[in-house]
Amino acid sequence: MATEQKQPSSLEEELEALLEVERFEPPEEFRRQALWNDPAVYEEAERDPLAWWAKQAEALHWGRRWEKVLDDSEPPFYKWFLGGKLNASYNCLDRHVEAGNGDRVAYHWRGEEGEERDVTYAELLADTKRFANVLKEHGIAAGDVVGIYMPMIPECLVAMLACARIGAPHNVVFGGFSAEAVRERMEFSEAKALVTADGARRKGRSAPMKAAVDEVIDPVASIETIVVVRHTGSECPMRDGRDVWWHEAIEAADPECEAEELDAEHPLYILYTSGSTAKPKGILHTTGGYLTGVACTHRYIFDLRPESDVYWCAADVGWVTGHSYIVYGPLANGATSVLYEGAPDYPDKDIWWELVERYRVTVLYTAPTAIRACIKWGPEYPGRHDLSSLRLLGSVGEPINPKAWLWYHKVIGAERCPIVDTWWQTETGQIMITPLPGITATKPGSATLPFPGVAAAVVDEDGQEVGPDTQGLLTLTRPWPGMLRTLYREEERFVNTYFERFGRETYLVGDASRRDPDDYFWVIGRVDDVINVSGHRMSTAEIESAIVSHAQVAESAVIGQTDEDTGQSVCAFVTLEGSLEGSDELVAGIREHVATRIGKFARPRRIIWAEDLPKTRSGKIMRRLLRDIAEGRELGDVTTLRDPDVMEQLEAKIKERGDEE
Ligand code: WTA
Repeated sequence: MATEQKQPSSLEEELEALLEVERFEPPEEFRRQALWNDPAVYEEAERDPLAWWAKQAEALHWGRRWEKVLDDSEPPFYKWFLGGKLNASYNCLDRHVEAGNGDRVAYHWRGEEGEERDVTYAELLADTKRFANVLKEHGIAAGDVVGIYMPMIPECLVAMLACARIGAPHNVVFGGFSAEAVRERMEFSEAKALVTADGARRKGRSAPMKAAVDEVIDPVASIETIVVVRHTGSECPMRDGRDVWWHEAIEAADPECEAEELDAEHPLYILYTSGSTAKPKGILHTTGGYLTGVACTHRYIFDLRPESDVYWCAADVGWVTGHSYIVYGPLANGATSVLYEGAPDYPDKDIWWELVERYRVTVLYTAPTAIRACIKWGPEYPGRHDLSSLRLLGSVGEPINPKAWLWYHKVIGAERCPIVDTWWQTETGQIMITPLPGITATKPGSATLPFPGVAAAVVDEDGQEVGPDTQGLLTLTRPWPGMLRTLYREEERFVNTYFERFGRETYLVGDASRRDPDDYFWVIGRVDDVINVSGHRMSTAEIESAIVSHAQVAESAVIGQTDEDTGQSVCAFVTLEGSLEGSDELVAGIREHVATRIGKFARPRRIIWAEDLPKTRSGKIMRRLLRDIAEGRELGDVTTLRDPDVMEQLEAKIKERGDEE
């Protein structure tokens, strides 16, 4: 209700009227000048998808050209651009400097306290070479895994690019994860080095990073070196023989470092993401196909003009969106980007719009959850700034509700900017379903059509394609260059998770979707036990396992509850040990425990004490019923429960105690 009071009724009315519009054609002015404005690109790609992807790969610099575009002799282990050799950091940096664009700004970095630093391509290259030498001096060679746990500072990108330069796959862990989660990810990947910072800043405060890592990292025997960037000035003990200050090492390093020519299928990075079990999945991306996929999608979906655009992807480098669309895609295209360290509401709720005005941002790419926060804060914050530089808007991470889409379109885009709602995943590496801004008529809430060359289908339980307006499982039915190659050191799990259900040539996405009569895709959400809170992907099993490791907890079941602001929120049903009674203190204790095990972003918003959990006769927890009860819905079928009384007890509990916020 508060939202409505804040906004002048005219905006409400205008948005209401826009709800009636079914399709938004690309604005004529945009269409005319767009890189792609002819639907023939779809036909060209369909006629010969491999020739199409090869054409996209040609935009990169190859040390040696590939002999074969795709090796599909052993699905699902696809190989792209066989025999080709290239280097990702060369493509992202040297190439542009050699072409005379060394002075172009790669990133306008903005620190949380208002600091500004423009990093040019030449500077980024110089630092990358030096840091690559630092890694080499510490025994890192091609194939060795390097962990990166850092705030949003240019050094984080330098570390990634330096790894790419020498062929050491990086394993970035989002800075919001706890040290414990870092330890686990370093252990799984047997990382040889870790690059981190003394601390991270958040809304005027700082939290230690390196010191927190120190407390847990010792058991990871593979870690030989920890490089530390001085950022916050936090207390930071250094261990002789293992720990190295970034600034000292960089200064002492040799400034020259050739980029290694690597196989197209050489691993570029591992990125852990959440699956349906508690153990995170190490998504492995390789070099040639991934770079082809992210560079071409970035160029054409964002209609990117490297000479004139200022592009801003407001995600964190620690998630796949940051890897593909802050680092590799934009740099491969020679773009000028904004890199912002801070929160969207610090020092005030207009900081994003201040940055758009300050840097004359032309393309903005963000998540629906951020847009919903802006709606809540009110249009006066963007209203304080000149947003006329914007020409294109993007959305990613979760389904965008039509109301948020229309607000974005109206208040931020002034009805002038096309919106690209891009669907993809950590696994797909690149955007898969999306409008093309100069071609596709958009419908609020739909990611529209597969990118040229991509094939997707919505199928039923038997793998048969369903008709229009019927919900089913989203699948990808043809390999694509940016696809994951495997789960790191878990080949069997890779096959079982994605290529078991409908055979080895059909990738099972894990999302439900439907298509409308125009064949547009409407992605509905996950069908597995993965939940999406503010665009952060989490596993209910991982949170459950964290909760259960709390000394007073006997059992727990976690569900994603629909939430107006964050899309979903974490709701935990908890059974305590023995005759313990739930208390505020225990709620705080459990939340804190989850923060330590995983990260603050995974803390349950709501905890419901349960004497018992609804289980089938075989002992499986029926989450469907828990979702029903948490959201106050009529309960579905309870006849398969071992003990049907459990639900009555739970209902009584919720009524009696109200919300346990
Ligand atoms: C969801 C983030 C609807 C989806 C890039 C997917 C979306 C999961 C969209 C992947 C979108 C992402 N519309 N849903 N435009 N984009 N999703 O791996 O459920 O963090 O499976 O990758 O986010 O999340 P991930």
